[in-house]
Amino acid sequence: MTLPFEPVNPVEPTACEPVPGATRPRVLVARRVFPEVVDRLRAHFEVETNDLDEAWSQEEFIRRLQGRSGVFVTTGERIDRALLDACPTLRAVCTMTVGHDHIDVAACTERGVIVTNTPDVLTESTADFAFALVLAAARRVTESEHFLRAGRWNRWAPDFFVGADVHGATLGVLGMGRIGQAIARRGALGFGMKVLYHNRRRLEPSVEGPLGARWVDFDTLLARSDHLVLVVPGSPETRHLIGEAELARMKHTATLVNIARGGVVDDRALAVALQDGRLAAAGLDVFEGEPAVAPELLACSNVVLTPHIASASLATRRAMARLAADNLVSVLTGGGALTPVR
Ligand code: DGY
Repeated sequence: MTLPFEPVNPVEPTACEPVPGATRPRVLVARRVFPEVVDRLRAHFEVETNDLDEAWSQEEFIRRLQGRSGVFVTTGERIDRALLDACPTLRAVCTMTVGHDHIDVAACTERGVIVTNTPDVLTESTADFAFALVLAAARRVTESEHFLRAGRWNRWAPDFFVGADVHGATLGVLGMGRIGQAIARRGALGFGMKVLYHNRRRLEPSVEGPLGARWVDFDTLLARSDHLVLVVPGSPETRHLIGEAELARMKHTATLVNIARGGVVDDRALAVALQDGRLAAAGLDVFEGEPAVAPELLACSNVVLTPHIASASLATRRAMARLAADNLVSVLTGGGALTPVR
C-alpha cells in the first residue's frame, strides 16, 4: 500500500545541527512514516526504517533496537520493562501519539530514558472526529448507508431511520483536557448544545465560561448526557470505567462515543446494552485488544465502528510525525525534549 505522499517542504532544522565527522547515533523508526520525516532523521542519525510496515514480534523489535539510542514508535509498539532491560543503549522513546499507555513511562524514567509524545497538533482533528462519530451514530448514518447499499431501499417513510438530534441536546464530555475542551467548544458554539463535563480537576471558571461547560459528578454526567464522549487517558484506573452498571445509568436514548482508548469501555457490556435497546447508539474508534474487535459489537447495527483514525487527517498525521522526529533529534543532540511525558 502506498501513502498519499505529496512533495513537501523539508522540516525546518532545529538549533542542534549534526557535527561533520562525529559518530552518529543509531535510531529505529518502527513503522512506515512520511519520507520527509525520515529525511529529517537521516540528517542526524543512522536510521533503520520499517518501510514495508511489517508487524514485528516483540522479540524482533528488541533485536532491531540493539545498539540504538532512540526509537520512533506509534501506538502499536510496546515499550515495557523487559524491552528496556534488553536495550540498555536506548536514550529516547518518541511516540507519534498523544496517548502513551503503550509505554511504561515510570520504567523509562528509572533508566534515564526520555519519553516524548505529540500533544496539541492533533487536538482539533480529533475533536472533529468525535463529532463525526456523534453525528453518525445519533443520526444512523452508517446503518442507513448499509441498508441502501444492500439494495433494500424502496420508498421514503416518516419513521425511516429516525435518530436523535444533536443540536440543542446535552453533550457530556468525560475527560476535559485539550481534546475534551475542543469537543465542548464545537458542541456549545457549533451545535447550541448544553455542555456538561466531568474531570478529576474542575477547570477554572475563565476556561469553563467561554466553553459554556459545567462540571458535574460522574453519575450526573451519565444520567444527563444525550451524547456522551469519552476522552480520558488509557490506564489501569480507567479500565472499564464504562461497564454494565454505568451503561444502566445512562438514558436509553443516549449515544456513547469512545475516542479515548480501548478498554475504557467494556465493549461486551456495551454490545449487550445496544442489542437490548438500553442504549440507542454508539460510535467507537478504539477497542479493547485492537485491532481485534469484539464479535458482539460487529453484530450490532446501531454502532459506528472506525479503526482508530480520530487524528487521521493527512495534515495532522504529518504534524504528529514531524513533532515525534523533532523530539528525537532534540533529545539525542542535547536540546532536551520538546514535548516530554513525565
Ligand atoms: C493518540 O495520539 O494517542 C491517538 O490515539 C493515535 O492517533
